[in-house]
Amino acid sequence: MLAADLLSAFDQLEKEGSESFLGAVSETDLEAARVVYLGAKKGQLRILQKQIPEVEKESKPEVGKRFNEVRESLKTAFDTANRKLSQPVSTSSFFDVTLPGQRLRVGHRHPLTRTIEEVTDIMGRLGFARVEGPEVEDEWHNFDALNIPVEHPARDPLDNFFMQVSELTSRSVSKVPLMLRSQTSTVQIRTMDESDPPIRMIAVGRCYRPDTVDATHSFMFHQMEGLMVDSDVTMSKLKTVLRLFATAYLGHDVRIRFRPSFFPFTEPSVEVDMSWGKDGKQWMELGGAGMVDPNVLKSVGYDPDQYSGFAFGLGIERLAMRRYGIDDIRLFYANDQRFLCQF
Ligand code: DAH
Repeated sequence: MLAADLLSAFDQLEKEGSESFLGAVSETDLEAARVVYLGAKKGQLRILQKQIPEVEKESKPEVGKRFNEVRESLKTAFDTANRKLSQPVSTSSFFDVTLPGQRLRVGHRHPLTRTIEEVTDIMGRLGFARVEGPEVEDEWHNFDALNIPVEHPARDPLDNFFMQVSELTSRSVSKVPLMLRSQTSTVQIRTMDESDPPIRMIAVGRCYRPDTVDATHSFMFHQMEGLMVDSDVTMSKLKTVLRLFATAYLGHDVRIRFRPSFFPFTEPSVEVDMSWGKDGKQWMELGGAGMVDPNVLKSVGYDPDQYSGFAFGLGIERLAMRRYGIDDIRLFYANDQRFLCQF
C-alpha cells in the first residue's frame, strides 16, 4: 500500500471518529462509536495500523508518527465526550415540567384610558374625528379667541397655571405668557384656524387648574371637547348628540337635561346634567355646552351669518366615576395597584 493512501485514510478516520464521539448523545451511543473506531480487534484504527508494515520502507517513520497522533487525537475526543455525558445534571438548572406554572401578572389599561378610548369610539360613530392640541397654550387660544375678556375672573392668575417663557427675536427678548391649558376649548380655536366648515371634532385631554385637591377636584383632570360647525347646526342637534352619546356610554335609561348657564364662548349656554335609573330623581352634572358665540366664529375668520355651531365640554373623570361607581377622583391618580387591577 502506498504511504500517501494510508496517510489520507488516517486523516479521514481522525475526522470521522472525533465527530462521532463528540456527537454522541448518550453513553451507549459513545460506547458504540468507540468500538467502531478504537475497538482493539476490529476497530478502524486497528485495521489501518495493520497496513503500516505494507508501506514503502522510507515512509514508515512518517506513517508511524501519524498513526500515534491520530490515536491520541481520537482518545482525547473520546475522553472529552465521555466526561460530558457522565456529568450529573446540575440541580440548579433542573426544570420540573410537571410543576404547576407561575401566573404572570398582566397589566391593565388605566380606567381613564379606557374611558377615553370608549368615548372616542362612540363619538367617532357619530362622525366626530378626534384631534389633538397642546397642553402648554398661549392666552389667545385659552381666552381671547374664546371671547373671554382680559378682566374676566377666569383669567385670574390664582385660577390658572401661568408660565413665562422667553422668546428670542432678532432684536430683543420678549416674554410670551404661556400657560397650562385650563380647558380643552382651546382646541376648538386651533381646529377652526386650520380648517373650514363643515367641522365635527372632539378633543380629549388633560386640563390644569390650581384647585385644592379633594374627592371631586384635582389640579389636573381630563375633558372631552366637542365642536360641530356647519350651515344648519341647531341647539336640538346639540341635545340629540349629547343624548346619543350619554346613552351609548352609560345605558338606555340615561336622560339629559339642559339648565341655562353662561359661558363667554357660547350663546345661549347651558349646563348639561344627566339622570339615570327608573325614578330619574338623581341628576349629575356632565359639563357645559351651547351654541358657538358669533364672536368666536369671527375670531377664526368664519362668517356668523353663514355658519352656526354647537360646542360642549364634558368631564372625563365624572363619566368614568359614574360608570365604574368610583366616589373619589384621587383614586385615578394615586397609582395604587389594588385599585388599577380592578379594570
Ligand atoms: N370649557 C368649559 C369649562 O371648562 C366647558 C365648556 C362649556 C365647553 C361650554 C364648551 C362649551 O365647549 O360650549 O368649564
